Amino acid sequence: MSETKPLPESVLISESRLQDRIRELGAQIFTDYENQELVLLGVLRGSVLFFADLARAIFRAQLADQGREVALRFEFVQLVSYHDNTKPSAVQLIHGGSDYLKQRHVLVVEDIVDTGQTLKFLHEHLQTLDPKTVKVCTLLDRPFQRQVSVAIDYTGFEIPDAFVVGYGLDHAQRYRNLPYIAVLEST
Ligand code: IMP
Repeated sequence: MSETKPLPESVLISESRLQDRIRELGAQIFTDYENQELVLLGVLRGSVLFFADLARAIFRAQLADQGREVALRFEFVQLVSYHDNTKPSAVQLIHGGSDYLKQRHVLVVEDIVDTGQTLKFLHEHLQTLDPKTVKVCTLLDRPFQRQVSVAIDYTGFEIPDAFVVGYGLDHAQRYRNLPYIAVLEST
């Protein structure tokens, strides 16, 4: 490893704050979709840890409220918008959705919304798959570099204008397994 490799130094959102907020989001989503079928559509790869915890939080809300249910289905799309650096580039679809979304309620699960280009691209792609409804849940919203306006229905945290890693988010594919969100700082 190179000596100048940047290290995630400062914790921005601790593990416990993440989990508390995800519990709240799960409860809200459960209430909003009660007694319906919902497709959670994870955007790979950054959303994987959030996706897994959110899915369990929705189930825990169900446990606390016997008699009601949200029937969850899992689907994934893979998009790339950053290529091993901290500058945005064009969005590309690597693997995307399926006919399964047709006439179903879809909740997109994103790690972070920055310029909004990824969500805009995904939204346009999803319309070709004819879902019944599409809503968006993002763990992080960083509105400072927004280039296109996008509708976000559920937000975990609005964060300051700094590149972050951890809890699924990477820098050059590193740091995804940190259980917290950290600001990436150069050494
Ligand atoms: P957008 O298209 O600019 O909104 O960027 C969305 C995507 O860029 C996210 O799904 C992430 O994969 C990636 N991204 C944006 N900001 C960060 C960051 O601070 N850390 C890691 N990945 C990021």
